[in-house]
Amino acid sequence: MAVLLTGGAGYIGSHTAVELLNEGYEVVIADDLSNSSEEAIRRVEKITGKTVSFYRCDVREWEALNRIFADNSIEAVIHFAGLKAVGESVREPLRYYRVNLDAAMTVLEGMQTHGVKRFVFSSSATVYGAECPFPYTEDMETGGCTNPYGWTKFMIEQIVTDTAKATGMSAVLLRYFNPVGAHPSGLIGEDPAGIPNNLMPFVSQVAVGKLKRLNIFGNDYPTPDGTGVRDYIHIVDLAKGHVAALVYAEQHTGTEVFNLGRGSGVSVLELVENFERANDIKIPYVFTERREGDIAECWADTTKAKELLGWTAKLGLEDMCRDSWNWQRQNPNGYDE
Ligand code: NAD
Ligand code: UD1
Repeated sequence: MAVLLTGGAGYIGSHTAVELLNEGYEVVIADDLSNSSEEAIRRVEKITGKTVSFYRCDVREWEALNRIFADNSIEAVIHFAGLKAVGESVREPLRYYRVNLDAAMTVLEGMQTHGVKRFVFSSSATVYGAECPFPYTEDMETGGCTNPYGWTKFMIEQIVTDTAKATGMSAVLLRYFNPVGAHPSGLIGEDPAGIPNNLMPFVSQVAVGKLKRLNIFGNDYPTPDGTGVRDYIHIVDLAKGHVAALVYAEQHTGTEVFNLGRGSGVSVLELVENFERANDIKIPYVFTERREGDIAECWADTTKAKELLGWTAKLGLEDMCRDSWNWQRQNPNGYDE
């Protein structure tokens, strides 16, 4: 069975490609490489010993997308393609709404035209309301987004739900918590452009000496040690969650939503301590002001994914820290040689 991964050269897409290939699926990737490198695809092939069909294109271009569906017997789509930088979305809201909504709608239209019935979408924990009590369950109210990026996820969830209702398609909305880490081979990993916004890539770049020290954004939150608490999940676990979602979509119709997290909160200081211990390396840090838009804590209730997908995260914080460092150390400049 061939699966189309839009944005499949990116961080989550490339790891998902590995897990799908390992499970015997054929993988077709459509990616414009606006935030990734073709080298990631070559490395996916190296890890798995299998080949990937790659199309370099913007999935909003109907002709190009149409050709991909026509040339391959695609039976399911996992839609990763989109812009994802929160701060940038605040500065350039129209670009974010245009690219993210248009990409999702064009892909859904392509599926409709070619009779493809299974869809998995990369949503985010950011769709929950900031007022929701922790841990987040899938039935809680959404729409508490604080930036255009988050709103695009909220809107696409609605677009997918309506389309599935109208067409009889089966759709799975995956709300990711905080994916971190890298494939244990160290061949693929997260390769952020410029200075990383997210915690783990920042810590890894401090460890490799590219950045001087970590700024911890606030130590006065109402959390056990005063620093922000998140639900970090190993990227390999997250990727396996997509395989489980595909299997679920094969067996059900309609739209279902799942949290993909580990179901436990970890503070910034805990993550730093684990990184230092797992890799025997010191991470210099200072406390600074809180980052605008940050919340104190956020973690998932993962019961639904466990019960309906039969999926649960297996890897722990030490695995995440070890594999992040392994990737960073082997590829100090990411995919750029
Ligand atoms: P990424 O930027 O590494 O991957 C996205 C890929 O999509 C990139 O390879 C990029 O080149 C490609 N792309 C962007 N616009 C495109 C277009 N119009 N046509 C074709 N390709 C296009 O990001 P990621 O971290 O792998 O995230 C994948 C998805 O998961 C995104 O939709 C993101 O919003 C979502 N998500 C990510 C996180 C996270 O923490 N990484 C959390 C929640 C949700
Ligand atoms: C961020 C995004 C969110 C997105 C998620 C996953 C913002 C406001 N939110 O969330 O929309 O879904 O990434 O991609 O950008 N931290 C530091 N120093 C740093 C970086 C982070 O102390 O240099 C702290 C943060 O304050 C937070 C924790 O580390 O408490 C995790 O931050 P981050 O990795 O950016 O993820 P989120 O804040 O959860």
